[in-house]
Amino acid sequence: MQNKQEILEKLTGIQSSRKSYYTELIHLVEEMKKKNRQLAVINQLTQIQISATWPETSMYIASQLTQILPFAHFALTLVKGSSYSSYLSRRDGEGWQCHTLVGAVPSELPVHSLDRVLHPAFAELFPDHYALSVPLRSQLNQTFGYLTLLQADEQRSVPEDAELFSLIASHVGVSVENGLLFQDVSEKIKIEAQLVQSAKMAAIGEMAAGVAHELNSPLTAILGNSQLLLREMKESPAAPLMNDIYQCGVRCKKIIQNLLTFSRQDEYLFSTVPLDDVVEDALGLVGYQLSVSGLTIVKELVQPPLLFHGSRHQIEQIVINLLLNARDALVGRDDPRIELRSFTREEDGRAYAGLTVRDNGAGISQDQLPQIFQPFYSTKDRTKGTGLGLSVSLGIAEAHGGKLFAESQENKGSTFTLLLPLLREEARNGEETDADCG
Ligand SMILES: Nc1ncnc2c1ncn2[C@@H]1O[C@H](COP(=O)(O)OP(=O)(O)OP(=O)(O)O)[C@@H](O)[C@H]1O
Ligand SMILES: [Mg+2]
Repeated sequence: MQNKQEILEKLTGIQSSRKSYYTELIHLVEEMKKKNRQLAVINQLTQIQISATWPETSMYIASQLTQILPFAHFALTLVKGSSYSSYLSRRDGEGWQCHTLVGAVPSELPVHSLDRVLHPAFAELFPDHYALSVPLRSQLNQTFGYLTLLQADEQRSVPEDAELFSLIASHVGVSVENGLLFQDVSEKIKIEAQLVQSAKMAAIGEMAAGVAHELNSPLTAILGNSQLLLREMKESPAAPLMNDIYQCGVRCKKIIQNLLTFSRQDEYLFSTVPLDDVVEDALGLVGYQLSVSGLTIVKELVQPPLLFHGSRHQIEQIVINLLLNARDALVGRDDPRIELRSFTREEDGRAYAGLTVRDNGAGISQDQLPQIFQPFYSTKDRTKGTGLGLSVSLGIAEAHGGKLFAESQENKGSTFTLLLPLLREEARNGEETDADCG
């Protein structure tokens, strides 16, 4: 009998009399289940997605922790330089909601004591709660953040829970550190890509300026001579041919000017310009192309014409870009239309002269919309689009203190809005026209 008791004790690890044997066994099973749950959660916490945003990560950790620890709110705090961001997750029905709290790390306080600043900040938000924080440490044993449980009084952790929380922090720390490294690398790749892009732009700009310069002199001869010849051969049957040569020369000149504008090497002649004139000029240049494509053009320009101070030629270039983009988006559509409307708008205490170019074309999907203003972004055939139209247009709008933005719905059409600081009539009278702003 004695022997049997000993064997039982060895097998189960339970030293008890027969009477309490089952109670202890149940307790042991419960303990093991609890440990298993904790292990499963720790395992889940090592699988934090490195590409997730920090609020998403905070809500993920909170949703896992809630299975094994008692708390009302959870915060993931990360320290970056002299500031910290706390991603506070709170339960919202079935799911979680996250708010971000940003603060400065006092210069005299070492990061491993930041909880002295964090806890009063949390106490202000959740007055009746107790904060339990554990630091997140890097492989080099440096504190780079905290995990915090905010517990109502009745939820206060027992020391065993606090120990578990520390253990969890060491596992979560590895995943979070990976996330931080991933962000650093992505940021670096992004900056490198931008550098390559701007180097490309600079090279193209230089090339364009060189080519434009070379072409300018022969073109001046072509334009001048063809004009002289035209005058002489007024009634001749060859006059229309000569006129053609002249018009093509004018077009080439415009292209060269565009190239120079793009490379920012031409003179920016700023003057007081009526927006209507710009629209008319742009339509004069591309209107023919649009009408042969069978488009209806609707024009609603407010009267008296809105004035702005800027480069007539550059703003015209924006309108042309928008019109040509609209034309491309309208290929093969039923009842293709482009609507041009001018309006005034107050934004952030400033008055703007606005112009919308709306089409009922193919539209732009929501994931492509943020990219369209990037240089070289084009969905068009290589021979058709360089992807520079909108980025150059945005650059011009911003150089005028204005804005250019797009709204679009796939298959419904797009609206591009250009806003330029409005020049009031009174201001115009006091202003010198054609002043060179360099
Ligand atoms: N009105 C529009 N409707 C639908 N998509 C548009 C519209 N305007 C621009 N886009 C999209 O934005 C992209 C970028 O336009 P952007 O004018 O910068 O370049 P592009 O037209 O492709 O080339 P480029 O203007 O140099 O000839 C286009 O390729 C197209 O996908
Ligand atoms: Mg374009």
